[in-house]
Order: sequence, then C-alpha cells, then structure tokens
Amino acid sequence: MRAERINGVGVEVHESVDGMVESAAGKLFTRLRRKSGSVIGLATGSTFIPFYKHVSACFRDEGVSFAEVKTFNLDEYYPIQAGSPDSYHSYMWRELFSNIDIREENAHLPDGSSQDPEAESARYERSIADSGGIDLQFLGLGGNGHIGFNEPGTPFSSRTHLTRLTQSTVDANRPLFSDPSNMPGSALTMGIGTIMDSSEIVLLAFGKGKAAAVAASLKGAVTEEVPASCLRRHGGAHFIIDEAAASEL
Ligand code: GLP
Repeated sequence: MRAERINGVGVEVHESVDGMVESAAGKLFTRLRRKSGSVIGLATGSTFIPFYKHVSACFRDEGVSFAEVKTFNLDEYYPIQAGSPDSYHSYMWRELFSNIDIREENAHLPDGSSQDPEAESARYERSIADSGGIDLQFLGLGGNGHIGFNEPGTPFSSRTHLTRLTQSTVDANRPLFSDPSNMPGSALTMGIGTIMDSSEIVLLAFGKGKAAAVAASLKGAVTEEVPASCLRRHGGAHFIIDEAAASEL
C-alpha cells in the first residue's frame, strides 16, 4: 500500500480489494472503539459488497458492537417498496445488518415508498441532525463522479432531495436489478451539503472503470460537474482505492 496526500485528500492505493476493505474497516472499528454510539453513514453498490462481507465476518473478533450505533444510508431508489429485493433497504439487510448486532430502529434509510418525497427528505435531514450528525461517512463513486445519487451539476449546497438518475447511472445499475425493466428512474439522496457535514469521509473505489472519475475528483477542477471533487474542501476525506482506480492519477 502507498499513501499520499493529493490536494487535501488522504489517498491510499492498495494492491488488492482485500487490502482496501481491511483498511476501511479499520477506520470503522477504530471509531466504534472510541465511541460505541457512533453515527455512521453507509453506501451501497457493488463496491461495498466486499466491505460489508469483511465487516460482517470480523466485527466480533474486533471486540466491537453495533448495539449503540446509528446508521444513515446515503440513498434509496424512488419509488420503491422497502421490501422489494432491489431496494437499498433490502441490500443493507442482506449484506450487513442481518449479520451484525445493530438494532432495527437505529438503521435508517430514506423511505422510497413515501407519497411526499419532499417531506420525507426533510424528515431524513432532521433525523440525521437529531442523532448529533454523522461521525464517519462511507462513499462509493459513480463512473461519472457522482456520490450518493448526486449526479453532475448538483449544487454543493444541496441537502437530502429527490433526484432523477442520469442515463449512465441507469445503465450502470440496471443489470443489478432482479427485474431490470422495473428499475425506478429517480432516487432520494443525501445532498452534497449533507455529506460534507460529516466529520470524516471515506470513499472506496476499485477497477479501471473508476480511474477517470478518481483522477477528475482529485486532480481536475473543483466543480459541481464532478460531484466528488467537493471532497477536496472537506479536510477529513480519504480515498481508499486500488491500483486500477489510481491508474490515471
Ligand atoms: C450507485 C450508488 C452510489 C454508489 C455508486 C457506485 O449509483 N447510488 O452510492 O457509490 O453508484 O456503484 P458501484 O459500487 O456499484 O460501482
């Protein structure tokens, strides 16, 4: 592993995805040991499957518990029922929550079945604020530089909101749907301003398909056209990536 600082962001480049997820899980466990009631922001997507597998496998050996932890996921498709196998709600229970000792009432996701997405977005923001704010936020990275479902052009000041997915995001995520013809075209997502309020941020990305977005985020202009470039203004952001994702740096 090599570590460097690029434009204010701590960057770890690992030879393997295993190395990446061990390092990211180390940051999570350190935080939980320091504060058992930590508030953790969680991400979904294929990137986080090996991470959650690792966390699920070794949390007991690490001597940590999630019994007091609160989690807030970045986003959820809209409209979708929580019980749909394709919802991020189902993803989280399948990949992580069923394997750890988290309390159901402490595991939060936006409600993709709400009739009033604006009220649901405001409720989600309040719920994050009432928890005391996010201590550690995990992020994946879209091939177009998106974080959460904040697509290029989303204001850096945005809060939780309903957004329309771009064609490239629909194309990237459709194959993961059990019924691809039923993929929702919208999502509820934390805004970039919501994400930036977190005390510490860890972004994970691996594979050649993320290399251009990693390079644009770390070395291109800080611009709303590349949502993840906002992280250079945070001060406590880390990129944990593999050699392939680092190949255009
Ligand atoms: C999805 C999610 C993001 C995720 C990103 C990368 O659209 N909403 O939170 O980080 O795209 O996904 P993947 O890890 O599958 O490449």
